[in-house]
Amino acid sequence: MDYEKLGQEATARIAGADSLDMLETLRVEFLGKQGSVSALLKTLGGMSPDERKETGPKIHGLRETVSDALASRKADLEAAAMEARLASETVDLSLPAPEQAAGTVHPVSQVMDELAEIFADLGFSVATGPEVEDDWHNFTALNMPESHPARAMHDTFYFGEDRVAPNGGRMLLRTHTSPVQVRTMLERGAPLRIIAPGRVYRSDSDATHTPMFHQVEGLVIDRDIHLGHLKWTLETFLKAFFEREDIVLRLRPSYFPFTEPSVEVDVGFAVETGPDGKARRVLGGSGDEPGHAWMELLGSGMVNARVIEFAGLDRAEWQGFAFGVGVDRLAMLKYGMDDLRAFFDGDVRWLRHYGFSAFDQPTLSGGVGARA
Ligand code: DAH
Repeated sequence: MDYEKLGQEATARIAGADSLDMLETLRVEFLGKQGSVSALLKTLGGMSPDERKETGPKIHGLRETVSDALASRKADLEAAAMEARLASETVDLSLPAPEQAAGTVHPVSQVMDELAEIFADLGFSVATGPEVEDDWHNFTALNMPESHPARAMHDTFYFGEDRVAPNGGRMLLRTHTSPVQVRTMLERGAPLRIIAPGRVYRSDSDATHTPMFHQVEGLVIDRDIHLGHLKWTLETFLKAFFEREDIVLRLRPSYFPFTEPSVEVDVGFAVETGPDGKARRVLGGSGDEPGHAWMELLGSGMVNARVIEFAGLDRAEWQGFAFGVGVDRLAMLKYGMDDLRAFFDGDVRWLRHYGFSAFDQPTLSGGVGARA
């Protein structure tokens, strides 16, 4: 058999394929399980050793010729497809703007506006801090000295050793919004009522973790503040946020270096079937009721006296409470998204579906979750 001729014929046909579909059909014809070249390879088993020595390299050579031709045609067709796409997807910036505004407000921005609105009504202002932080504000001043094991749990992104903070510490991407507590106490002193929403970073990535996500920190510093104030504030906030009176919280003892005592807050929920037929968690009711369970929602506690000291305040005079909660998580629970990664994909179909109209400003009187 003239394997060389077979190779030339196959190569010519492959070179003539004008679509990826057609190329795939040829691949199957030659190299698929039932393909002609595969069939030739199978004949090797029935040959005498001498025959195989002579024919084997030719058949293998044929297979290589065919697969090389397939790969190179595939690369050409893909490059052409990309060229065509680039040519057809140009944006003509000289065209007039569409009558209907096309953009939507991202759910994270919407939820942050909702939080600001709810907490403004409780006398809280919005504070911010840098995302590029230093070791001292992110850890040390929050009662996590150099060797503290909690540091290891933060999967921190550090900058190189060559970047040093003015206070001598290492630079990093803040792992939580808690350093804003320290910065705001240092800048504004006490008493204080703030929330601090913003981006935080951790080296972690799967369906429920992204390397960048959002938190909101809450901090109250005053005289005679106690756990009862914390519980009332969280309850009032969550009822307003989820627009349900039947939100029930459970406070569990926990540990955070920057609070003492520390409490983890659980919220009762039930599983219901949504309009799309998918099961989803709906907050409300006690987790101990039949058909309900508890879900961990946020961390909080009374601000550790050492943190108050680090932040330059007199620990004998001032105390307070703090809490921290994931904003993306709040958005998912309220608006029923199930994959955190979609928040940061920038897919316009997702944004159109879950985004908000720029005119749908959250207000306490109009409803903080109302969809236009
Ligand atoms: N900073 C914590 C974290 O990112 C969350 C947190 C817990 C914040 C307790 C607080 C707090 O203010 O009191 O895991």
